[in-house]
Amino acid sequence: MTSTSSPTSPCLGVFDSGVGGLTVLRELREALPGAPLHYLADTAYAPYGEKSSDFIAARSLVIGEYLLNRGAVMLVVACNTATAHAVNALRERWPELPIVGIEPGIKPAVAASRNGRIGVLATPATIASARYQTLIEAHARGVQVFSQPCPGLADLIETGELDGPALRGLIERCCAPLREAGVDTVLMGCTHYPLVQPLFQQALGPEVQLLKIEAAVAKQAQRYWAGDGTPSLILESTGDPTILRRLAASAMGGTTPSTRQVRI
Ligand code: DGL
Repeated sequence: MTSTSSPTSPCLGVFDSGVGGLTVLRELREALPGAPLHYLADTAYAPYGEKSSDFIAARSLVIGEYLLNRGAVMLVVACNTATAHAVNALRERWPELPIVGIEPGIKPAVAASRNGRIGVLATPATIASARYQTLIEAHARGVQVFSQPCPGLADLIETGELDGPALRGLIERCCAPLREAGVDTVLMGCTHYPLVQPLFQQALGPEVQLLKIEAAVAKQAQRYWAGDGTPSLILESTGDPTILRRLAASAMGGTTPSTRQVRI
């Protein structure tokens, strides 16, 4: 179904290139149980992680505009790649709007590491970004950071098959260099990756601490949200919403939320 319905009441707008932002949405529901949430998966244009900075910024602005027109009074960029390449452009376009992004949690990973060697799993575009370099310079002094791009992984997760030989093979190829580097802490710097967290843990071994930062992002959003509204959830996709619907049902642990396709 394609929807072009009229603006709704104030809500919190959340977006990602696809299903990855569900890992943030789940935490937002925990932290803000009363908030009306409007989630947009840019499925037709995913993955972002292997696109140019200009492309990611342009799509993020289109989505921001769309969510604001649908009643969003705050944005959560539930995508590390879009935060790295577009959060500045979003803040410039809407300087008054509260905008919360997600960035690889270098700081908590440094704090958690005992041997001073940490690994970061993220998209190629996140790792290539200037914001990511700045994060490392700001928070990883005296610590060795092994940045591991995972090309193709978000795309594979987008198929909705969260286990299988191809996925395990790719995860093994991404984790092997980190194991060899002797890291004791690894952070998932892409919101898609917690959807396959058990496979990462198996590939890295039980002694490696595997961190994610989605809950901290929800806490940050909690600080900005005024707290009014009636709880509701709108899930939309710019592509086929079937996988989004299925993964949302398991991520949110309840009844299957309704999902629709939008063309923006
Ligand atoms: N989920 C996104 C992130 O956190 C990006 C995945 C992609 O589209 O490549 O970076």
